[in-house]
Amino acid sequence: MTSPARASSRRLHVACIMDGNGRWAKRRGLPRTAGHTAGEEALAGVVRAAAQRNVGWLTVFGFSTENWVRPPSEIRHILGLHRKLFGRIDELNANNVRVNWIGRPFDEPYARTPKSVQRAIVQAIDDTKHNTGMVLTVAFDYGSRAEIVRAVTRAHHTSISAINAELYDPTLPPVDLLVRTSGESRVSNFLLWQAANARVYFTDCSWPDFGAAQLDDALALVST
Ligand code: FPP
Repeated sequence: MTSPARASSRRLHVACIMDGNGRWAKRRGLPRTAGHTAGEEALAGVVRAAAQRNVGWLTVFGFSTENWVRPPSEIRHILGLHRKLFGRIDELNANNVRVNWIGRPFDEPYARTPKSVQRAIVQAIDDTKHNTGMVLTVAFDYGSRAEIVRAVTRAHHTSISAINAELYDPTLPPVDLLVRTSGESRVSNFLLWQAANARVYFTDCSWPDFGAAQLDDALALVST
């Protein structure tokens, strides 16, 4: 069992469900897309802050397999924000951050990642591959149950290690801390396998307002 005390002695894996962009915008009389734009900027700040703390892996829920039902204009906007995030290469390199991605593999039948996002993901992974600091994994076109079903189907044995080896990225360590913003206390099909022993931090703070100070509050849960 990973105790908080043990977790604090090595680099942590923090996972974030970045919820509340739409409500943040609505409260300000802005379109939902403005909330997502602010959410992408908040994420860039959290990446910088996490890279400067004891975080070795930051995994964020960028777009779920369920998010495809959103209005096309909102989806187009969110896709553009992913291209923006994956284009922040100078910033990522300055912080020694290596980009990674999990989701339905591009060549599989149900995969939906558009070519423009595929290209941005592949480019960002390549442009940051020599960085040795924090690994930023963006889950895009991702759903945990689909990941687990696929892994179990491909595994040679029904053992934990054999199933683990068939996850989208078997090198991801167990999640130490799962953060969800905006007052929702659900885990929403995110990293169900990897977060089996995670501490869970729910906060009323909307994702666009989540920054270094809020990250420190969350990290306090696994650092004491
Ligand atoms: C939740 O807000 C967030 C998402 C649907 C994921 C998209 C996240 C971003 C655009 C932030 C930036 C991240 C990346 C990887 C570019 P919501 O619309 O569900 O908010 P609501 O619950 O208030 O409606």
